[in-house]
Amino acid sequence: MPARGPRKRRRGASAGGRRPRGRPGRVKRGTPVRPRFWVEATVPHGLEPVAGREVRERFGARARLRRVAPPGAVAFDFAGPLEELLTLRTVLAVYLCRHYAVPRPRALLGHQHFRELVAQINAVQRLMPPGTFRLLAISAAGAHTPVMERLKDELAAATGLVVASHEGDLHVRLRRPVDGRPGWEVLVRLTPRPLSTRAWRVCDLGGALNAAIAAAMIRLTRPRPDQVVFNPACGSGTLLVERLAVGPARRALGCDTDPEALACARRNVRAAGLGAQVELYPWDARATPLQAESVDVICADLPFGHLVGSHAENVELYPALLDEAARVAKPGARGVFITHEVRLMTALLEQHPRWELRRVVRVTQGGLHPRIFVVRRRGF
Ligand SMILES: C[S@@+](CC[C@H](N)C(=O)[O-])C[C@H]1O[C@@H](n2cnc3c(N)ncnc32)[C@H](O)[C@@H]1O
Repeated sequence: MPARGPRKRRRGASAGGRRPRGRPGRVKRGTPVRPRFWVEATVPHGLEPVAGREVRERFGARARLRRVAPPGAVAFDFAGPLEELLTLRTVLAVYLCRHYAVPRPRALLGHQHFRELVAQINAVQRLMPPGTFRLLAISAAGAHTPVMERLKDELAAATGLVVASHEGDLHVRLRRPVDGRPGWEVLVRLTPRPLSTRAWRVCDLGGALNAAIAAAMIRLTRPRPDQVVFNPACGSGTLLVERLAVGPARRALGCDTDPEALACARRNVRAAGLGAQVELYPWDARATPLQAESVDVICADLPFGHLVGSHAENVELYPALLDEAARVAKPGARGVFITHEVRLMTALLEQHPRWELRRVVRVTQGGLHPRIFVVRRRGF
């Protein structure tokens, strides 16, 4: 075993990375040592457990969830290339984090800390083609104090960025440690836009579902390749695209009475490369030509009655849509519905003869607090 000398910093481990556990002598010569990064993913409030499960399932032993994370976030240590984090679907954005043992942000301007801060930002810049990040934005309490202005200017100069006057694309957040330690934490967002902004969304329909919430709903349907999946009131196709993004289905069908919504869904589905796999129909979700007991999963983002529809219309629509969904669902089929009509939906499901209410998840979307209702078709 080699004698233990002074610890050397591994390449790539400086940007928020931490040395993996284990004795250095145990690492075989020539075995690449994976840096361990501290990562925080922001998620829609209420969906932290769903996102945490995605992290565990996707990365296995390479991700270790941290116990302390702010609300609306999942924190974990990650041993793998940062690029892989960009494939998470239930999160809004991913940040590379680092703790700095400094009493005040001013001390980040000191030589050693400033070098580490620049390395943290450079690690994020390297993830994208040169020129992707141009504008540096820092959010912190007191973001406009002279010290913060100086920090912005010096960081911009050292990283080749320009200080953003409004919206930036390289986002840095400064905060007090959430676990109560002394010091400051710096978080750098890995992407110029939130991860929930999908490249496939070429047609943006008013009232479209946030893609991270859609991905979480899809996880709650427990996707399998042998399923027939039906998305009544599909709008611009968010749920259908997110369903097929996680794996194939026997059939994936959507319907909507609005021709504009269907045209929008067609464009999005094609942009996602799923044109041949998704069937879209101009059916009324209250009476479809689908055979009875032919569908394994029903997933829908129902009109909330704000941007789309009205409460009076929903009072008519919801019971009929739930009855039709129960008719086409196989016994044991899973239904996952999101709506802001919480009282109406709860009352309908509690007394529905065919749907059994299994779980309700409160989510935050755009200042609203809709619920995801997970149900199971009785009669199994
Ligand atoms: C909240 S939007 C769905 C948005 C969709 N999740 C998206 O991301 O674009 C609800 C949709 O229900 C549709 N809709 C309303 N009543 C319907 C009915 N009776 N049958 C089918 N679709 C209906 C509306 O046209 C609208 O597109």
